[in-house]
Amino acid sequence: MEENRKIALVTGASRGIGRDTALALARTGKDLVITYKSEKDKAAAVVSEIEEAGGKAVALQLDAADNASFVDFTASLTALLTQKWNKTQLDYLIHNAGTGAMNGFLDTTEEQFDEMINVHLKSVFFLTQKLSPLLADQGGIVNISTGLTRFTTPGASIYAAAKGAVEILTKYMAKELGPRGIRVNVVAPGPVDTDFGGGHGDNQGFRAFIASQTTLGRIAVPGDIGGVIASLCSPEMAWVTAQRIEVSGGMLL
Ligand SMILES: NC(=O)c1ccc[n+]([C@@H]2O[C@H](COP(=O)([O-])OP(=O)(O)OC[C@H]3O[C@@H](n4cnc5c(N)ncnc54)[C@H](OP(=O)(O)O)[C@@H]3O)[C@@H](O)[C@H]2O)c1
Repeated sequence: MEENRKIALVTGASRGIGRDTALALARTGKDLVITYKSEKDKAAAVVSEIEEAGGKAVALQLDAADNASFVDFTASLTALLTQKWNKTQLDYLIHNAGTGAMNGFLDTTEEQFDEMINVHLKSVFFLTQKLSPLLADQGGIVNISTGLTRFTTPGASIYAAAKGAVEILTKYMAKELGPRGIRVNVVAPGPVDTDFGGGHGDNQGFRAFIASQTTLGRIAVPGDIGGVIASLCSPEMAWVTAQRIEVSGGMLL
């Protein structure tokens, strides 16, 4: 029944949380379109891993900071859906792509401000607008926020503010897309051991500090997050919309 398989688009799935999300979605029988910004080989490796496990996947390049490119991206995606799946629509959209620019509030430049707003907020707003005709009724959208909208750490002001705006936007998207049966939720991970913001390398002190602030006693790995995002794309979650789901192991309760 290949023609009935759902298709999910996960942005920023060449590495980290997006990669784990794509693999988790594939394990639940979804086909995947994943995007990368510059790590084409890593994206190709994710595609191979999915296809070797019997799934169907393809990678497209996307710069979430480049709003002007969304028209071309939408055209490429439309052509791809026809060529690879003989379909005109996909079912799930996961806005995961992102980078961190950590700087103190007083030191944050306008350039860093614009980058964070473009990548984390403007892309979710306008890419969803552009992709809306390609998103099937009864489908779903998952936005990605951060625990930093609930608790604070110095250096995350504009990043966290952009994510806070995404949480509000999630409710409005859920309200306006709800009549089409499209559910929109936002997942807010606590700290996850990925390359994000330059990664933590062998900084065991940082990991120990996070562990000390976390009820479940360690920093998260991508495998703690992707399955939660994928679960929001399951029939069991069909009555869940406009919700912020924090996945932080109980950080700073
Ligand atoms: N790690 C954490 O502690 C944490 C906590 C809470 C929330 N989050 C959020 O989770 C999401 C994923 O983070 P992660 O930790 O998995 O990061 P990551 O390991 O650094 O991976 C980032 C992914 O996003 C892509 N990407 C980066 N900049 C992009 C841009 N301008 N346009 C399009 N794609 C871009 C990267 O593509 P390339 O590989 O091609 O560069 C990569 O696939 C982000 O939205 C982040 O804010 C992370």
